[in-house]
Amino acid sequence: MRVSVIGTGYVGLVTGAGLAEKGHYVTCVDTDAAKIAQIRRGAPAFYEPGLEELLRRNSTRLEATTDLRRAVFESDLSFIAVGTPVADGQIDLGAVRAATRQIGSVLREKPTYHLVVVKSTVVPGTTEQVVLPLLEEASGKKAGVDFGVGTNPEFLTEGEAVQDFLCPDRLVLGTLDASSLAALEALYAPFGGERVRTTPRTAEMIKYTANCLLATTISFSNEIGNLCSALGGIDVAEVMRGVHASKYLTVTPGDGRRPALEAFLWAGCGFGGSCLPKDLQALIACGKRAGEPMALLRAVVEVNERQPEQVVALVRRHFPSLVGVRVAVLGLAFRPGTSDMRESPAIPIVRRLLAEGVRVSAYDPAARDEARRVFAEDRVHLCEDLASAVSEADAAVLVTRWEEFRRLPDVLRATGRTPLLVDGRRMLEKTAYDPYEGIGL
Ligand SMILES: NC(=O)c1ccc[n+]([C@@H]2O[C@H](COP(=O)([O-])OP(=O)(O)OC[C@H]3O[C@@H](n4cnc5c(N)ncnc54)[C@H](O)[C@@H]3O)[C@@H](O)[C@H]2O)c1
Repeated sequence: MRVSVIGTGYVGLVTGAGLAEKGHYVTCVDTDAAKIAQIRRGAPAFYEPGLEELLRRNSTRLEATTDLRRAVFESDLSFIAVGTPVADGQIDLGAVRAATRQIGSVLREKPTYHLVVVKSTVVPGTTEQVVLPLLEEASGKKAGVDFGVGTNPEFLTEGEAVQDFLCPDRLVLGTLDASSLAALEALYAPFGGERVRTTPRTAEMIKYTANCLLATTISFSNEIGNLCSALGGIDVAEVMRGVHASKYLTVTPGDGRRPALEAFLWAGCGFGGSCLPKDLQALIACGKRAGEPMALLRAVVEVNERQPEQVVALVRRHFPSLVGVRVAVLGLAFRPGTSDMRESPAIPIVRRLLAEGVRVSAYDPAARDEARRVFAEDRVHLCEDLASAVSEADAAVLVTRWEEFRRLPDVLRATGRTPLLVDGRRMLEKTAYDPYEGIGL
């Protein structure tokens, strides 16, 4: 099929490259000419394992342009994959509306049937109540007759995005009529994964429910971890091992792997990223508009916002004052495998430490360029490698679960001193190094 993808950020570019890999002809569109130039050079603006290779391998079936008109006109199906940030506590559909209007005005001139699919995460009702009427208005045509409308939310995880897209666990296909569903089924025919065929409104809700459930398990684990710390003599890691032994929670996949849920039901320094925090806020605002108080999700946000302070408190325990103390913050990306620092807990942790007079050094294997931008105004010494970040540190704070940090105890010992190790992810064996502090210990 000929596909245009509007918006070539993390989701749009992986979608475009993944569809090209499966044999479709894809045109990626963005308003940001610099991004398009980078894609044409085969070097995307962000780090995502396997993506450059995918772009290179499919260069004959994938092009990138700022010319939305041509891309839509020459394709059979358009994905809307633009950002949906939160502004003033609720979802900002500005980019979705703009992209929709532009697509609609191309449909006015296009003689053949076209399907418009919303891939961006949008609150329930958006496809039917915002996108569909805007398309009809801009095209002067009728949805369900002259063109189709659908919702196909994306579940990829940054850092594992290529694999997630190429081998999805489920494909949620939200449509209003048979032709739209048939077109989406044809597009995804070369892909595996369970099909969830439903309405756009339910598809939109599935996406939010999935993200909010993950966020809830994280905040739940963090609240229990904080209580373990406060009570003393209880290690949340042991507690969670005991909890996971339940037949209700521990699905044994059979190949020795542990269920992914374990990673969420595990205490740490909080969730970040471009999705969970904003999706929670958007659903809370959506609930309030519908007269629902959304008490649980508001508490999930509140627990998460307090979590960076828990990490700083662990450092504070070991020094009479933090003024002049040297702390190495290890891991700046919101999760391993990506350079994305959007809403990363590392940002409030670094800023709190700075506010208390700490001299901060920091290291991340992938997010160095991003960190330079984020901390442009802050006095953070960004280091090229792990050893130099901790070489003069009085304390090292592990924030992101990069595999490389497994050797942190050895790297700290190699300094010839014994700086404090604060494990914000409970990633290391607590007996492997002294002095050790961990969330929920
Ligand atoms: N990042 C993730 O892990 C992830 C996972 C699942 C779903 N999502 C959802 O997918 C959507 C996109 O997220 P993202 O992280 O890829 O965003 P992003 O900010 O990385 O990319 C969005 C892109 O859209 C472009 N854009 C904006 N308006 C445009 C227009 N009118 N025409 C063409 N391009 C336009 C921007 O320039 C930008 O490059 C969001 O709704 C997000 O919630 C993201």
